[in-house]
Amino acid sequence: MNDTEELLRAALLKVPSGLAEHVIRVVAEARRLAAIHGVDVHAATIAALGHDLLRAHSDERLLTIAAEQGYELDPADALEPILLHGPLAVPILQERYNVLDGDVLGAVAFHTTANTGMTRLQQVVFIADKIEPHKLERHARVRRVAELAETDLAAAMREYLDYHVRVALESGWPLHSHTVAARNELLATGRTEVTGVPSTVDEARTYSED
Ligand SMILES: [Fe+2]
Ligand SMILES: [Fe+2]
Repeated sequence: MNDTEELLRAALLKVPSGLAEHVIRVVAEARRLAAIHGVDVHAATIAALGHDLLRAHSDERLLTIAAEQGYELDPADALEPILLHGPLAVPILQERYNVLDGDVLGAVAFHTTANTGMTRLQQVVFIADKIEPHKLERHARVRRVAELAETDLAAAMREYLDYHVRVALESGWPLHSHTVAARNELLATGRTEVTGVPSTVDEARTYSED
């Protein structure tokens, strides 16, 4: 265990026990998925340990930290400041925990909203957070995400984002621009894989009218 890992494990003692237990379950799931998909298990461990560093902060505290960091708010961040607990943890992980790996920092930043260009490590951490055993019970679609994650991280991401968008619409939640962009990217990649060429707008129209 290196210094960063020790510091992050010690930080878990200061957060509510339910949150610490969630983080430990995400670490286990991230390590398991990392091993399956050939991702650096140590990097997955550090990202999972740090992903919810700010999760117990109030909306007011998150908005204060965002202002201090000069972080530009998406309209969805302003409506649901909880979405900020991923990206705002990045400077704190760099400065106080000596996390310098950009891939790990991206995994923490994007675990709340997803984003375009996510690496396999970032997808592993995003999915591990959503399918850890306690969350798996909540919905059949999340169980489907877990099934897909065994063999295809991109398919699992798309399944989760589809589920998330549906729940957001049903619940009146805002959609973060990063979430929409991430899903569009996964859709485009999926179509390119099927047809060999990127889809056109006309194809998209036909698809939506089916
Ligand atoms: Fe989180
Ligand atoms: Fe989490």
